[in-house]
Amino acid sequence: MLDKKIIIAIDGHSSCGKSTMAKQLAQKLGYIYIDSGAMYRVVTLVALRKGLIIKNKPNIPKVISELKNIKITFEWDEISGKNTTFLNGENVEEEIRQLEVSQNVSPISTIAKVRSEMVIQQRENGKNKGIVMDGRDIGTVVFPAAELKIFMTALPKIRAQRRFLELSEKGQTVEYDEILQNVESRDKIDSTRAVSPLKKADDALILDNSNLTRNEQLKWTVEKAEELISGK
Ligand code: DC
Repeated sequence: MLDKKIIIAIDGHSSCGKSTMAKQLAQKLGYIYIDSGAMYRVVTLVALRKGLIIKNKPNIPKVISELKNIKITFEWDEISGKNTTFLNGENVEEEIRQLEVSQNVSPISTIAKVRSEMVIQQRENGKNKGIVMDGRDIGTVVFPAAELKIFMTALPKIRAQRRFLELSEKGQTVEYDEILQNVESRDKIDSTRAVSPLKKADDALILDNSNLTRNEQLKWTVEKAEELISGK
């Protein structure tokens, strides 16, 4: 009987399938799923719409003063596993995934005040537990007392290979070497930034999925979660 509700924090490197796994896990447990990266993407979208980012450099005071006008909500459909992000009630799920947002989200996510505001909202989402949240600082900063913390990773060349196949299947012409370089440079930026860098929490379990299928990694994670939920 799954009665005790816990918080599950999933952090890790980019392009290693965190959000896919986090969604599948939330579906399996009947938990809420929150995509913390989507929140940084929404702030970036607002900054772009208002012309507050010029050549990858945000106007920090203006971005900060916009925060009070930004209400981010999610609609999580546990049955279909579909997550939709809203900005002040407007569905922005597709727009926040566009290249322009991806290219500008990094500088926005390094603004300390943006991070502290997002963390307040993230904690609010988790106040009743029964939640799976993925990101970069969930187990270290947002929910340091989360009952289950998973740090996901995979070899850079394997992540690049997966991304290459994904983009090729979408009909995009891409160079494997360029993707590998991008994966490696994002690892470096995420891990070395001054505010809330990506790092494994001391008590996080490492999930290296270099040689695991999606089903294998889900099975492993569900087992870990169920052990904690049932108190065994
Ligand atoms: O997971 P994602 O690629 O959608 O995240 C978008 C960006 O936000 C990425 O550059 C890392 C950043 N991010 C962060 O700094 N902290 C989080 N908890 C989640 C994402």
